[in-house]
Amino acid sequence: MISDFLSESLRTTALSAAMRGAGLAVRFLPIPQPTIMVGPGSSGRLGQTIAGFGHAKILIVTDSIISKLGLLDDLTNALTAGGAEYVVFDAITPDAPIPLIEQGIDFYWEHGCDAIVAFGGGSSMDASKAIAAAVSNPGKTLRELAGYFKGLHTPVKIYAVPTTAGTGSEVTVAAVISDPENHTKLVIVDTRLVPKMAALDPCLMTGLPPHITAATGIDALTHAIEAFVGKWANPYTDDMALSAVGLIFDNLRVAYSDGMNLEAREKMALAATYAGLAFTRANVGYVHAIAHQFGGKYHTPHGLANAIMLPLVLKYSLPAITDRLALLAVRAKLGRENEGDDALAQKFLDAVDQLNLDLGIPTFLAALKASDIPQLAEAACHEAHTGYPVPRYMTQAVCEDIIRQVLPPAAAAKKPARRARKNA
Ligand SMILES: [Fe+2]
Repeated sequence: MISDFLSESLRTTALSAAMRGAGLAVRFLPIPQPTIMVGPGSSGRLGQTIAGFGHAKILIVTDSIISKLGLLDDLTNALTAGGAEYVVFDAITPDAPIPLIEQGIDFYWEHGCDAIVAFGGGSSMDASKAIAAAVSNPGKTLRELAGYFKGLHTPVKIYAVPTTAGTGSEVTVAAVISDPENHTKLVIVDTRLVPKMAALDPCLMTGLPPHITAATGIDALTHAIEAFVGKWANPYTDDMALSAVGLIFDNLRVAYSDGMNLEAREKMALAATYAGLAFTRANVGYVHAIAHQFGGKYHTPHGLANAIMLPLVLKYSLPAITDRLALLAVRAKLGRENEGDDALAQKFLDAVDQLNLDLGIPTFLAALKASDIPQLAEAACHEAHTGYPVPRYMTQAVCEDIIRQVLPPAAAAKKPARRARKNA
């Protein structure tokens, strides 16, 4: 699970690239939603349900850690009790490369499967989607399936059991895989890749360590906020984003400090799914654009990079999103509507700072080097300006200045103040 989380940076970079490329098409296409089961034991109930669907054999795609921890047991016991046959392919690694996915495809055929359960973090979800697309379109290689709606035939049914509360992969349209020959990421996008059913089982998340709970939780928060303040927001994504933000402010601290608290884990799983439903339609913004550069350059965990940048990007964006931040503040129970937008928006900014502090998120990026900042800012602006519906435009100079604010203290002390002013 931890390795899955660490791979999320590159995975989400490619996912966002997919969403950029899909642009308006993804914005306006109807995206199916899975039937979602929630609560302790829901992975077993999912097994109970799909056992009755008459599949010949179900392929469970996961990683070896999840398999060894016994997290599959509720699902597989229910499948067996329901008379369903299954096999487990538990070789998924972070950023699953094409040869590994091809092994999964071979495994699927060897065992005569006709459906897939994706069980794990983002990498297992994406590998499952890629296998589903490939086995349904045997005339095409994985490389040929990369892009938008490249498979003629509908992928076989996918069911999802996420084991982290952050990515929202169980409700998104894309699969990201690694092409080790070309050192690139390939993205398969098809609205038919959205799983048919998903189980949000908090019992599978109690083993996540606090720092991963914090970072994945803030990733979900960032999905919700960026979807809510961006220009593609609509009433549906607003509902999802507001629900996610409310749940996260109510539950993330508890899940962080008391990982065994099933209620908090369940609410965080729901929040991540709601945020996924929002951002897969309304997209993300500068926080993700900058965080992706940190991930690419320094391998900074995705959620941590988001958490460090979120307060600064929100403060810059404030003039354009005061009313939206005020709505978020009310939903987060930070104030009442009659307090006025300016006061409420400031309360929300303060609350994000406090949340980061309470979760042990640093205010700087230890790996950041001043000499890298121009290149990082250029790449972030390119990513954002080629498709993210950002609420307030940021020049590269401004972006550099914002990134400079998260230099580690020693590096920041060496920087001449006039340089920062010059770029402000
Ligand atoms: Fe993210």
